[in-house]
Amino acid sequence: MRPRRVRDRRADALVRTDDEHIELPEVADTEALGERLAVGLGPGDLVVLSGPLGAGKTAFVRGLARGLGVAGPVTSPTFVIAREHRPLPDGPGVPLVHVDAFRLGMAGVDVAAQLDDLDLDTDLADAVVAVEWGEGVAERLAARHLLVRLERRDDDVRVAAVRRVAGTSPPPG
Ligand SMILES: Nc1ncnc2c1ncn2[C@@H]1O[C@H](COP(=O)(O)OP(=O)(O)OP(=O)(O)O)[C@@H](O)[C@H]1O
Ligand SMILES: [Mg+2]
Repeated sequence: MRPRRVRDRRADALVRTDDEHIELPEVADTEALGERLAVGLGPGDLVVLSGPLGAGKTAFVRGLARGLGVAGPVTSPTFVIAREHRPLPDGPGVPLVHVDAFRLGMAGVDVAAQLDDLDLDTDLADAVVAVEWGEGVAERLAARHLLVRLERRDDDVRVAAVRRVAGTSPPPG
């Protein structure tokens, strides 16, 4: 619990309110934002990504993977639903589970049950879980999460709005 609070403070320093928008002119900027936000993330944390096709969700996760120090190329998992990335030997030891909810995003789908069915080797509680197309469906995994909304402006600059969504605490006992 104690290290957790330290991580949260560092993340809070990077997370703006939803009303402040972060301009990302180049794909490297989107990756860098993901890399920076990884600093505040640990096991069991959820990142929900929204934004249209080509907005840069996967680019953001690529940066997240770099920041977490996990292995394997990050590509759009559209056709595999979820991809697991293990920590590199010299990484901080937090695996990344990268989910694409595009096809799971049908009304009322239970993402937790769908992921359960995949029988991943990685326990979600031990990993950072990043879900593309996750808004409106992935919140079932964890009420408390980081919401990253990416938009593509007419001039092709991406604009990110990052919000820390506080979950309601589970009832005591
Ligand atoms: N500022 C930018 N940020 C992110 N991507 C950018 C930016 N400028 C250009 N691009 C390009 O836009 C594309 C973004 O693709 P990416 O796969 O990250 O989007 P996505 O939101 O995951 O799309 P999908 O909904 O298909 O999964 C890449 O080809 C990338 O090079
Ligand atoms: Mg993608």
